[in-house]
Amino acid sequence: MRKIHIFDTTLRDGEQSPGVNLNTREKVEIAHQLEKLGVDRMEAGFPAASPGDLAAVNAVARAVKNVSVVGLARSREGDIDAVREALQGAADPCLHIFLATSPIHRQYKLKMEKHQVLEAAQSALRYAKKYFSKIEFSLEDAGRTEPDFRAEMVAMAIREGAYVVNIPDTVGYLNPAEYGAIFRHLKETVPGIEKVQLSAHCHDDLGMATANTLAAILNGADQIEGTINGIGERAGNTAIEEIAMALETRADYFGAKTGLVLGEIARTSRLVSKLTGMNVPGNKAIVGANAFAHESGIHQDGMLKEKTTYEIMSPQTVGFKESKLVLGKHSGRHAFREQLLEMGYTLEDEQLNAAFARFKDLADKKKEITDDDLLALLEERLADA
Ligand code: KIV
Ligand code: ZN
Repeated sequence: MRKIHIFDTTLRDGEQSPGVNLNTREKVEIAHQLEKLGVDRMEAGFPAASPGDLAAVNAVARAVKNVSVVGLARSREGDIDAVREALQGAADPCLHIFLATSPIHRQYKLKMEKHQVLEAAQSALRYAKKYFSKIEFSLEDAGRTEPDFRAEMVAMAIREGAYVVNIPDTVGYLNPAEYGAIFRHLKETVPGIEKVQLSAHCHDDLGMATANTLAAILNGADQIEGTINGIGERAGNTAIEEIAMALETRADYFGAKTGLVLGEIARTSRLVSKLTGMNVPGNKAIVGANAFAHESGIHQDGMLKEKTTYEIMSPQTVGFKESKLVLGKHSGRHAFREQLLEMGYTLEDEQLNAAFARFKDLADKKKEITDDDLLALLEERLADA
């Protein structure tokens, strides 16, 4: 089984979510939890962005012992120096340098020709090598970069000693077939590609970040980048928990696994949601409140007979206590009776039928029927008797 390295960027790309601002204490708390989750690398921030972020990255670097801590830098000496300062005291420091390579970014943002982009990245890598033994180089907007130039930039980064080369779909523009083909092409054509780890970094603008990342894995990606709960710029980044569980659940298909402690997923998700203030939607895959909840009678009946009828993974695997059978208008007698039994009520068939009829009346008026509603139903029945 191939191991896929997990590069967590919750504290950097994730913190770039509009409205999110983590202070040092919060970053360190999340970093400790990411360490328990077992990520391989964690990007703690962008030290050149502000003195506060530099201090926060330094606090994370000193706090975390078993995970490589990464600091982001543009291809500028000043940014690289800021990461040097921020990663002092880190057990396993890693510098992450990026430069945009796509025609749109070259023309409008950088106002640079291809050769200038190549030279700027090369000189940043040469400067960085004096201070770092582990360097990741990212081709920002690689997804919209010309294939030949993309390959040339990757080859240059390898020659200059990068340890990981990252191919971001910065604006979430590609589809899985296209993104996968980029990895295959690079793996097959770039000299020396076997010396580096190739990394996938996807954004979710078209809702394809997870699918694109999995396509990259199928086509040779060694590392994937993402965030907890998929938070990040605009529509966010690849959700790490989705990749981990896709690989776990379909190991037969992907033949690859992460080294994550899967039972820490729910706790990590809750902590990130609490400290960033970004609520997890109920229907969010893996960590949403409804991810293991069943409402319809047919599904509940199946679940009560055999859980694998409607669950492809168990809630316990990711750290939730149990599946939920939610009583609502679609629920059936089987789940209704089970819930009453759990609350300590055993009704005769006739009583059950009457209570179930009342329950259906109420369920037509209310989205979810709680235990208190059921108690009220039963009390009404006793009062009528
Ligand atoms: O999306 C992106 O291109 C990035 C880079 C800085 C890696 O976040
Ligand atoms: Zn990004």
